[in-house]
Amino acid sequence: MRVLSGIQPSGDHLHIGNYFGALRQFTALQEEHEMLLFIADYHSMNGVRDGAQRRAFTRSVALDYLACGIDPARSILFRQSDVSLVTELAWLLSTVTPMSLLERAHAYKDKVAQGQPSDHGLFAYPVLQAADILLYHSNLVPVGQDQKQHIEMARDIAQRFNHVYGADLLVLPEPYIPEAVAVVPGTDGRKMSKSYGNAIAMFATPPEIKKSVMGIVTDSTPVADPKDPSAHLFALWGLFASEAEREQMVARATAGGLGYGEVKKDLLARLSALFEPMRERRAALAAVPGDVDDILADGARRARAIARPVLDACREAAGLGAGS
Ligand code: TRP
Repeated sequence: MRVLSGIQPSGDHLHIGNYFGALRQFTALQEEHEMLLFIADYHSMNGVRDGAQRRAFTRSVALDYLACGIDPARSILFRQSDVSLVTELAWLLSTVTPMSLLERAHAYKDKVAQGQPSDHGLFAYPVLQAADILLYHSNLVPVGQDQKQHIEMARDIAQRFNHVYGADLLVLPEPYIPEAVAVVPGTDGRKMSKSYGNAIAMFATPPEIKKSVMGIVTDSTPVADPKDPSAHLFALWGLFASEAEREQMVARATAGGLGYGEVKKDLLARLSALFEPMRERRAALAAVPGDVDDILADGARRARAIARPVLDACREAAGLGAGS
């Protein structure tokens, strides 16, 4: 099974919601499947207009993923723009993509509603995303719920292309949306999100992390009284605990006598044990700039080797070039 996913280089700092929602799945998937992971720098051109910033963001995302355990010996980690063949496939696909399909895209409609200019690149975003997926004959695409429609569009576009030019040219991908930890609560109980200011950053310094954890909002139930085990503090703590530990915690919370301070301290210890080694690894990688560049260059080479024959078969079928 070939698994592929893409990440926008947005410049946002990763938080623990990103880790449990996506990164952890990627590191698990690479153990069992051939994994391609790319940084969608072409896509980011719709929002980020500064070249130096894009390059810095791209590098930063690569560091994040490597620090979290993406293993470049197993996974193919690359920059989207290093395999520019994808833009050619996007053109081929755009010729079989109905306007009405793109007009239905939620992401496009939302962004325009939020005031983003409705450039052609934004409108055609799902076609480039389809090319990202189809260029590598990807079977499975792990994404968040918000991307499900884009994967369905990629299937639809692949079907149309195959129908016109030949049944086996493109592989139909399946979305993979892990539901287990779909929503990680933030420090205030709402969904963890950078824009709500309720996130616990993954790679912040120990004092910053401590501040976030100690700042988790709780009610004013006295220590002696029973606590609501569905409070978001317990949900956050539960991310770092086993099933048995969670059951014990529910029992202790409902019995009374358990202080929120104790739970926060234990959460901080568990959180640091998981993320502190990743933070150190990220700092070590960042200190040697050439390393990340070499990893991305090697990823691009491996990605191109998969992409070239797929695109060549499409070109041949479509009667492009001199032919063979
Ligand atoms: N659109 C995705 C996002 O915003 C990023 C992305 C681009 C992607 N191309 C992809 C994801 C291909 C999966 C497969 O999150």
